[in-house]
Amino acid sequence: MSKKPFYITTPIYYPSGEPHIGHCYTTVACDSIARYKRMQGNDVMFLTGTDEHGLKIEQKAEAQGLSPKEYVDGIVAIFKKLWKYMNISYDRYIRTTDDYHVESVQKIFKELYDRGYIYKGEYSGKYCTPCESFWTDSQLDENGCCPECHRPVKFAKEEAYFFKMSPFADRIEKLLLETDYLRPKTRAVELVNNFIKPGLEDLCVSRTTFKWGVPVSFDDKHVVYVWIDALSNYITALGYMNSAHSDFEKYWPADVHMVAKDIMRFHAIIWPAMLMALELPLPHHLAVHGWITMQGKGGESEKMSKSLGNVVDPFMLGERYGVDTIRYHILREMALGADSAFSNEIMINRINSDLANGFGNLVSRTVAMADKYFGGTLPADREGDALDEEFKAKVTGLLAEVDKYIDETKLKQALEAIFEVVSRANKYIDETEPWKLGKDETKKARLATVLYNLLEAIRVTSALLAPFMPTTMPKVWEQIGAAATDVEYGKLDKFGVLPENVTVHKGEILFPRIDVDKEIEELNAILLKNMEAAKAKLSSEEKGEKTETAEEAEIPELAPEITIDDFAKVEIRAAKVLSAERVKKSDKLLCLQLDDGMGGRQVVSGIAQYYAPEDLVGKTIQLIANLKPVKLRGVESNGMICAADTPSGIRVVFLDDDIPAGSKIR
Ligand code: MSP
Repeated sequence: MSKKPFYITTPIYYPSGEPHIGHCYTTVACDSIARYKRMQGNDVMFLTGTDEHGLKIEQKAEAQGLSPKEYVDGIVAIFKKLWKYMNISYDRYIRTTDDYHVESVQKIFKELYDRGYIYKGEYSGKYCTPCESFWTDSQLDENGCCPECHRPVKFAKEEAYFFKMSPFADRIEKLLLETDYLRPKTRAVELVNNFIKPGLEDLCVSRTTFKWGVPVSFDDKHVVYVWIDALSNYITALGYMNSAHSDFEKYWPADVHMVAKDIMRFHAIIWPAMLMALELPLPHHLAVHGWITMQGKGGESEKMSKSLGNVVDPFMLGERYGVDTIRYHILREMALGADSAFSNEIMINRINSDLANGFGNLVSRTVAMADKYFGGTLPADREGDALDEEFKAKVTGLLAEVDKYIDETKLKQALEAIFEVVSRANKYIDETEPWKLGKDETKKARLATVLYNLLEAIRVTSALLAPFMPTTMPKVWEQIGAAATDVEYGKLDKFGVLPENVTVHKGEILFPRIDVDKEIEELNAILLKNMEAAKAKLSSEEKGEKTETAEEAEIPELAPEITIDDFAKVEIRAAKVLSAERVKKSDKLLCLQLDDGMGGRQVVSGIAQYYAPEDLVGKTIQLIANLKPVKLRGVESNGMICAADTPSGIRVVFLDDDIPAGSKIR
C-alpha cells in the first residue's frame, strides 16, 4: 500500500539578521508534526527556506559592502546551522534566489498577466518601507501608521503591476468563514471585516525602486514584489513550472501551512487568491500562532527584537539545557493563536516540573526498581489488581487523543495529554507503593506487574514524545529495554507489547534538575548584559550611526516637555559643507569641514553608511553650533548636524542653498 502524502511548510524566513528563539517556534512545531506524520507512516514533505529578495536585504548588504547574494549566503548558513542544531528534519530547503524558483516566479507572473489578473497601472498611496507595503487610508492604524509594524508611512507614487483581487473576494470569504482552512477560526471574522468587507483592494505586485528581486520577464524595469515571489515558494519547491523538482502532483495541496500572526493576512487572503487565479487547489489548513514575546521593563509584553537586546539565543539555551528541553519548552508554552511570553522563570520551572520531576523521574524510578528488585529482568509471574485496568485504559487511550491534537495542529494540548499520562503513572507508583511490595517475598508477582505496567506507560509516552524530543527518547527506549519494533506507531494503543521478561538498563539521568535560583540569576544577567549592550550601542559615541535594520527601528517617544527658554539654549545655525572625508578605521563616520559663518569648524557625523562625501559638499545643512566638543574615534567634533531617523535610515536635513552660512535657525 502506498504511503499517504503529507505536506507541511514553515514560512520562508528573511535572512536579514541572525535567527533567535522566536524564529524557532514555527520550525520546531512543523518539525514535530512532520516527525509524527512520518511515524504514522505518511510520506512527508517538510519544506522550509529563506525569502532572500527585497529592499531591506539590498540595503543591509550595501551597508556591509557586500553583494546581496554574498550577504544572504552568510545568514542562510547560520539559519541552516541552527536548524541542524535544533534537529530540524526538513526534507527540502528553498531559497528564493535558487534558479528554479526565479524561473517559476517569472512564469507564474506571466501566467497571471496572460490570464488578465495582472495589469499595469500607477500606484500612489501610503507606503511602508520596512514592510515594503502600500496601504490604503482605511487600512492605516489609528495614528495613520502602517497597520502591520505601526511605523510612519510616506506618500509614494510609481508605475507598478497590480494583481486583481476582487474576482476572488466571495470565494475567499467563504473559505475563511465556512471551512476550517484558518486555525484558529476565531481570526476569520476579523480578516473578513478588515479586508474583504471594505472591498478587496488590488495588490501591487511589482517594484521599480530597487533591483534585488526577480525581474518581470516581459518588463525588466520591474522586479516582482515580495509576496508573489515569497508565497510561490510553496509550489515552486515542488516543481511547479520548473523541472528542478517533480513532486507537485504528489504533495499539492499542502496539508498545513504554519505561520505567525503578522503574516496571516498574506496567507489567508492573497495566497488563496493567487491559487484561485492559477486554478490550483487550495491548501487544507493555515495554522496561525502568536509571537514569543519578552516582558518589558514596565511589565508589558514586547516583541523580541535585536534592537532591544532582548532576543534569546537558541544556541545558548541548547548548550545549557539541551536541545530537546528547549524544543519541549517552546511547544508546551504556546497555544495556537495566542502569544507566549518567554520567561526564564517559567522555562526553568517547567523543565524541573515536567521533565526532571515528571517524566525523567518516572523513567529513573521505574528502571531503578526493576534493577534493584529483579536484577534488571522482570520475572514472568503476574498478579493483577482492579486498579490496573483504569491505568491501562488511560495509557491505551492516549494515542487517539494525541492523533487528534496533531491533526488540529494543537501541539500544546498534545503535550499536555501525554504529560497527564506521565502524571498518572507517577501517581500509580504512589498508589501501588512498589518499595513496600519489594520487601515482601509473597508480593513479587504483584511487584513485577506494577513495574511492567509502568514500563508500558513509559513505552507509549516516550514513543509519542519522540517527534517532539527526538534525541532523548531513543535513550529512554534503551533504558526500558524496548526494541525499535516495540515503539512503532501501530503498537501505541496496545498494552503488553514489551516482552514479559523485559530487561532494563540503568542509564544517564535524562533531564537533570536545575538549580532554579542560580540559573535564573545567570540567565537574567545574560539578558541584562545584552540589553545594556544594545542600549550602549544606540547612545554610543557614534550615536548617529544606528546599525539596526530599518525593520527594527522604533518610533522614538516624545521627550519630556521643555520651555522656550530651554529651547533658546540650543543654537541652530545654517552651515555649508566645504569638504567631507571618511574617518579612518570607521565605516560609519564622516568628517566634515563647514563654513559656519563664524570662521569655520570641523564636525564628525555618523552618516557614512548613507552618504558619500561628494553627496554633501556644497550643501547647506543645519548645525547644532553650541554643543560641547567631543572626540569621535580620536577626531574632534565641534557640534552636530541635524538628520532625521527614518525607517529606511538616516537622512540629513538640507536647507535651501541661498540661506547664508551662520544664519540662526529658530
Ligand atoms: N519572509 C516572510 C515570510 C514569507 S512566507 C511566504 C517573513 N519572514 S520573517 O523572517 O520575518 O518571519 C518568519 C516567521 O517567523 C513569521 O511567521 C514571523 O512571525 C515568525 N517570527 C519571528 N519572530 C517571532 C517570535 N518572536 N515569535 C514567533 N514567531 C516569530 O515574514
